Amino acid sequence: MTATSQKGKVIEAMENVKKSLYAVQFHPEVEQTEDENVILNNFVKNICGCSSDYSRQDAVNDIKEKVKRELGDGTAIIGVSGGVDSTTLAAILAPALGEKLKAFFIDTGGMRKGEIEKVKAIAKGAKINLEVVDKYKNKFIEKVGTTINAEEKRARFREVYGEVFKEVAKNYGATHMIQGTLATDLIESGKTGGSAMIKTHHNVHLDLGLKELSPLADFFKFEVREFAHEFGLDELVSKRQPFPGPGLYLRIVGVPVTAELLELVRDADDEVKNILIKHKLYEKISQTIVALLGVKSVGVKGDGRVYGYSLVVRTVETTDFMTVKGFYLPKAVCEEIISTLSRYQNIVRVLFDWTTKPPATTEFE
Ligand code: XMP
Repeated sequence: MTATSQKGKVIEAMENVKKSLYAVQFHPEVEQTEDENVILNNFVKNICGCSSDYSRQDAVNDIKEKVKRELGDGTAIIGVSGGVDSTTLAAILAPALGEKLKAFFIDTGGMRKGEIEKVKAIAKGAKINLEVVDKYKNKFIEKVGTTINAEEKRARFREVYGEVFKEVAKNYGATHMIQGTLATDLIESGKTGGSAMIKTHHNVHLDLGLKELSPLADFFKFEVREFAHEFGLDELVSKRQPFPGPGLYLRIVGVPVTAELLELVRDADDEVKNILIKHKLYEKISQTIVALLGVKSVGVKGDGRVYGYSLVVRTVETTDFMTVKGFYLPKAVCEEIISTLSRYQNIVRVLFDWTTKPPATTEFE
């Protein structure tokens, strides 16, 4: 026995040095564990005898070589969302695969304000030849908007995304699909080593009749951000806050998603972002979520009673998104956000959510 908690009642770590056996009864890899890097470093270097001679550049070269080998004579498509994962992966692969890689951006109707223009600019800067597909927006709203159940919503989003992707892939004659799926996505979708399914991810193991390659499946977010840095994508990609594939659909909670509510949440998200940028806070926050809570409550505007929704602003800090801590905003910033968001006609309350993950997740659904 090496370590215990609760006054010796719970064994937290044990070892048998002679047999070279070591065990911990907690997650050494998550940020909330103190000295997590010391524990992992000791294990990998001192116990397993590994040396740190594998650079980011080595990893990038391995990704390229592995994809080239697996693709063979085939052609691949990659869905680029403008987020750090898929964009960085497309930037890594574009020069290596040339004409054999086609990059698409599918406009789902749930994007942030100005997102499409931004994604186009990022792709241009990263020399990714990107095609924007925007004719399926209504299909997403119609199919996803009719359920208020979080998992059902994700499942339907995934279904429509799959159908659209299949059509795009068929038109292009693709044999392979390249995914920016990370280790975290696989863990939380319950696809690895006995972990519990927390959320369905829209792009994990879609069965499209194409061979699927997920070259980032062994990597975590912070590592992909380091790749982005190596590719000079700092300004455009790695300093942007992450955004989930199903986008604003996950931020309208408890009521059916409509084009009008998407517009409201999109505008509110943009307003909050601008306030945070103005106060030089945006870059300090790992992720900001502005969501509409579909429970009605009573308010008063002008001289009249209003029975409307609440907007909730969630600001968090983390490096791995496996766990998060609330990023507490200063009072003056909260006041500015409240007065800005309560101007929306149907909004009577503005709430702040700084709950840690666990027990909450970063997104609301
Ligand atoms: P949660 O809510 O699971 O989020 O704590 C962790 C991180 O993942 C993002 N997220 C997603 N990203 N597809 C994605 O590409 C998804 O379905 C999805 N769900 C959550 C979330 O925004 C956060 O950065």
